[in-house]
Amino acid sequence: MDRKRVLCLVLYLFPTFSKSFRLDYQYGAILDVGSTSTKVHLYRWIPKTVETDLPKFEEVVYKKFKPALSDFVGDVKMIRPYLKEIFALLQQLIPEPLHESTSVYLMATAGLRFLDEDSTDNILKEVILFMSNGSMNPFKYLDGYARILSGEEEALFAWISINYLYNMFDISKTPKDTIGMVEVGGGSMQIAFIPERPIYAGKQAVIIGGREYDVYAHSFLSYGAKSIGMRIEEYLVRQNMQAVVLTNPCMLKGDSHNVTSDGKTVTIHGASNATECVRIIDTYLPKIPEFLCSPKPCTIGSVYGPPVHRENFLALGSIYLTADELGLLSDNDLMRPVDMYLMATNYCRLSLDEAAAKFNIPARWASFDCQNGLYIPKLLKALGFNMETENIFAKRKLNGVKIGWSIGAILYEEEKSYYTFNADAKLLFN
Ligand SMILES: *[C@@H]1O[C@H](CO)[C@@H](O)[C@H](O)[C@H]1NC(C)=O
Ligand SMILES: *[C@@H]1O[C@H](CO)[C@@H](O)[C@H](O)[C@H]1NC(C)=O
Ligand SMILES: *[C@@H]1O[C@H](CO)[C@@H](O)[C@H](O)[C@H]1NC(C)=O
Repeated sequence: MDRKRVLCLVLYLFPTFSKSFRLDYQYGAILDVGSTSTKVHLYRWIPKTVETDLPKFEEVVYKKFKPALSDFVGDVKMIRPYLKEIFALLQQLIPEPLHESTSVYLMATAGLRFLDEDSTDNILKEVILFMSNGSMNPFKYLDGYARILSGEEEALFAWISINYLYNMFDISKTPKDTIGMVEVGGGSMQIAFIPERPIYAGKQAVIIGGREYDVYAHSFLSYGAKSIGMRIEEYLVRQNMQAVVLTNPCMLKGDSHNVTSDGKTVTIHGASNATECVRIIDTYLPKIPEFLCSPKPCTIGSVYGPPVHRENFLALGSIYLTADELGLLSDNDLMRPVDMYLMATNYCRLSLDEAAAKFNIPARWASFDCQNGLYIPKLLKALGFNMETENIFAKRKLNGVKIGWSIGAILYEEEKSYYTFNADAKLLFN
């Protein structure tokens, strides 16, 4: 029996019971498997009765479980007790009569994407063994409930989250009103928005509130802030294979750390040199000649990306953090790439101690702000943003809730199952 029918039956038979036990709610959970932890988001909402309505999600619980699932790569047998603890929490929080109709999704991002294929397979196999077994997972389980998200899915879910949180899926709004999403994570960077013109590649068609939205979404793997930092150091090591001491122009003077590659330890000192840092960053953001670019326009290398002009964009991840730490977000959360670039150019002249004191930030963050403050505007420019643009704003939280992809994921999945289980539901095309 499907979830809705169970719910109707229960609501019909036990009106008072349902009130005291809140059986009028529906529950759903996202287990966000990241590179340092698994974050459990449990939501509840009143099921919608009108297609164009959107559920109002309440987050019942948000809890981090450490270590990361990927840390069990050498010992997959430990995954079972780890998941047991998570599922025990969910069983405790979700009313028992609703267990069978509640979907629990496990979605893995960067942490599992960067392991080799065999390791990822072994981990995922163990997870599926657990989640598909009714005696360990009493909740609803279908194929695909435990999976690795592609960068594009992650981008799409973040885009859905933002537009859901800003009420852009209201019936009074049009797809033109939606807000774009641009995010620099640790390992990758993502962009998702509804372009003005037809999308030639990277289109994701999603149905929300009975309407279809054609979203362009792309994820650039290895273009996250951490990855770029590592690639800059690889570049420096390659330029000077014999050296055991190197200077990194993107790091601040007074900062240093050791990197080990091929069994050799290299000590890297900061040099606070913005000009040289930008020169290296540019090698990772190549602009190819027009005649090599097809379909047009191209963003980084030959990757197609539709024009971003006139869109409103919300910037997440390191874009927000860097803008915030460089003191660029005083009023209305606006973030002009050119302001970040100019600020970073000055910032990168400082030493680590000077920067930490002047900007009132912990020293362990201060060095990244030089690299990221130069890299992010350059990256945005490569993606087609105007450096002077005022259509990017940056925020971390909305109404006290951190803006992430999980609420978009639950909305996407619930909308999908709504149309699967309500065959007569019609789509309203725009
Ligand atoms: C499900 O899990 C239980 C308890 O761990 C186990 O005894 C049983 O064999 C499993 N069932 C399947 C089909 O794997
Ligand atoms: C890096 O390695 C050198 C030599 O092996 C050592 O003296 C130094 O303390 C290390 N620095 C850091 C930051 O770990
Ligand atoms: C920055 O690095 C470049 C290239 O190595 C060098 O020519 C320039 O003098 C450096 N600038 C400063 C301020 O050290």
